[in-house]
Amino acid sequence: MPERSPAGKLRLGVLASGRGSNLQAIIDAIEQGTLQAQVVVVISNKKDAPALERARRHGLTDVFLDPKPHAGQPDSRAAYDHAVLDVLRKHDAELVLLAGYMKIVTAVLIDAYRNRIMNIHPALLPSFPGLESQKQALDWGVKVAGCTVHFVTEGVDEGPIIIQAAVPVIEGDTTESLSARILEKEHSIYPMAVQWYAEGRLEVQGRRVSIRGTQESLGKGLINPWSG
Ligand code: GRF
Repeated sequence: MPERSPAGKLRLGVLASGRGSNLQAIIDAIEQGTLQAQVVVVISNKKDAPALERARRHGLTDVFLDPKPHAGQPDSRAAYDHAVLDVLRKHDAELVLLAGYMKIVTAVLIDAYRNRIMNIHPALLPSFPGLESQKQALDWGVKVAGCTVHFVTEGVDEGPIIIQAAVPVIEGDTTESLSARILEKEHSIYPMAVQWYAEGRLEVQGRRVSIRGTQESLGKGLINPWSG
């Protein structure tokens, strides 16, 4: 894990394709002072992504990168990621956050940002990777659902887990009601994971991510994303 200079604020590049509520949670945490970071660029593969509009509303740099021009190339995904990488580098992004980013990230980005790309997934991984995780959880009949923040590796939703939060599945839940309950937790654990990174507290060893100082914080009741 690269050492961070204590002086500068952690520079975040966010990739988002849709609604952008997790981007909003990051922006809010920054504005409230609970996350010492700055969003240097928001990139989307969707021109009309509400996430881009959110970025603009907060005076942040937003970039739409059209996947179409790369579509004909032999490895169109890698070609697209080269374009993404150019933008991230241009803005000097140190950590990349996937926030509802509906494209598979290739080795081009993963190699350039090894252990420096995070994703939020609306399930307790390794259960229910991929799409429609909340529906998968309901269909399976689980009693506990939740969300996961993890580092991104080549395997989709497979990277080392940083933090998870659980919610109960309640009798009569629909995909919408369960998703809303999980989303609330997403909005609290994603900024928390990023702040840990900003503080240089995350250490990746194989599949495991240690969070330095967590025991002390738990003891003082400072961190308790699992309750409530
Ligand atoms: C979230 O549920 C996130 O976990 C998943 O996609 C959804 C994005 O929502 N990866 P939003 O765009 O952040 O509102």
